[in-house]
Amino acid sequence: MKSQTKKINNRAHFNYYDSFANKNWMPSKHEDDSSIDFFSIPDYAVTILEGKNKVSQLFVYMRKVSIENNDITIAGIGDVVTHINFRRKGYGVELLNQALEFISDKADFALLCTDIDKLGNFYRLAGFKPLKKTYYFMDKFGFEKTESGGMYMRLSDCPKIDNILNPDIKLHVGRSNF
Ligand SMILES: CC(C)(COP(=O)(O)OP(=O)(O)OC[C@H]1O[C@@H](n2cnc3c(N)ncnc32)[C@H](O)[C@@H]1OP(=O)(O)O)[C@@H](O)C(=O)NCCC(=O)NCCS
Repeated sequence: MKSQTKKINNRAHFNYYDSFANKNWMPSKHEDDSSIDFFSIPDYAVTILEGKNKVSQLFVYMRKVSIENNDITIAGIGDVVTHINFRRKGYGVELLNQALEFISDKADFALLCTDIDKLGNFYRLAGFKPLKKTYYFMDKFGFEKTESGGMYMRLSDCPKIDNILNPDIKLHVGRSNF
C-alpha cells in the first residue's frame, strides 16, 4: 500500500481525480442535489494505491477564515471515497490518517461534513469528533447556507481554536465547495 498527495493544478487536473469519485461513489454522488458542481476546486488530492490501482481518495480544501478577528487555517476534507470493490478493508481510515498527517503542519483545524448517524463511527476511527454546532457557508449563488453534520479535528493547541468550538460564536467557512 502506498499513499500519494498531489497538488491540484487546474480544473482539468481536478476533473481527472473527480472521475474516480464519480465512478465509485455508488449510489451516485450528489444525487440529492443536481445543482451541486465544483465551483471552487480542491487544493490537494490524497490517494491510496494498491499496486498501480487507486483504491481510495479524498480532497483537501485549504481556507483561511477570520473568527473573532483571529485568522484560522481550516483544512476541509471532502469527497472521501473508496473503490466499490475495496471497501471495509481499512483503506478509508488509512486515507484519513494520511490526509491528517499531511495537513497537520499546514492547518489549525480539519473540518468535514457527513451523515453522522451513518458514518460518524468511520470518521471517529481517525479521531474526528462531532462539531455539535451548525456552521455556515456561501453557496455558488452567494447565498448563505447552513450545515449541521460537521465533524472536526483540532490540529493546534492555540486558544483561538476554542472560538471555532464555542457554540455562541458563528462559524462561517466562506465560499463552498469545502
Ligand atoms: C465511507 C467509505 C469512504 C468508507 O471507506 P472504506 O475503505 O470502506 O472504510 P474502512 O474500511 O476504513 O472502514 C473502517 C470502519 O469504518 C466503519 N464504516 C466504513 N464504512 C461504513 C459504512 N458504509 N457504514 C457504516 N460504517 C462504516 C466500519 O466500522 C469499518 O470497520 P469494519 O469494516 O471493521 O466494520 C466508503 O464506504 C465509500 O466510498 N462510500 C461512498 C462514498 C461516501 O459515502 N463517502 C463519504 C461521504 S461523507
